[in-house]
Amino acid sequence: MLTIDAGTTGALRVAPSILAADFGALANAVREVDAETDWLHVDVMDGHFVPNVSIGPPVVQSLRRYSTKFFDCHLMMSEPERYLEAFAKAGANGCTVHVEVGHTKELIGQMRDLGLRVGLAANPDAPFEAVEPFLGDIDLLLLMTVFPGFGGQSFMPEVMAKVERARQVIDNAGLALDLEVDGGIDEKTAPVATAAGANVLVAGSAIFARADPLEAATLLRRAAERGRPCD
Ligand code: DX5
Ligand code: ZN
Repeated sequence: MLTIDAGTTGALRVAPSILAADFGALANAVREVDAETDWLHVDVMDGHFVPNVSIGPPVVQSLRRYSTKFFDCHLMMSEPERYLEAFAKAGANGCTVHVEVGHTKELIGQMRDLGLRVGLAANPDAPFEAVEPFLGDIDLLLLMTVFPGFGGQSFMPEVMAKVERARQVIDNAGLALDLEVDGGIDEKTAPVATAAGANVLVAGSAIFARADPLEAATLLRRAAERGRPCD
């Protein structure tokens, strides 16, 4: 089986969120941005943890046939433990669960056992202290820059203090950890997020809702590079 790895930890990554793509033509949407895509961000909503429903393992399995990218699956679910195995079997490479769900240690262990890259997400109002105890056990920290549930919301700049703090702790401790932001990321906010220390940028509307998604992804990457302290 083809092994798809996440690439160098800490490198700049643009991860288009397919939530903003045309669900009737997902394969085309994914292929269209392939050249400028590092990862593919898959937003999974269960209608319980967030007030919206999106997609699940069958769609991941179908998309797997059209893409060799790292599938970064963001599980906005109250009971991710019931579905992690199905996502792994469908072709997810990394899964991210929310710290708000609880029993984080068990979920991290389950993801490891399944061979998934391990992500932990926190909503905008979660303090850094909520995720801090787990930083040594995960591969990716996702700090939400909107309250999850819908695409197209406005970036919350107040989350940047938490991103800065996370970057400091990651660097000081020498942790091999990606720092991802998700929500309202576009050419204006991407450099703000990378300047604060984020290295994985999720963008839905700023890529797939544009007339030319590939060009939009290129512009987003350039904007993000401008914000990086040094590369
Ligand atoms: C929010 C999702 C995001 C969202 C981002 O619930 O987790 O990934 O799709 O969409 P934009 O980039 O449009 O804010
Ligand atoms: Zn997401």
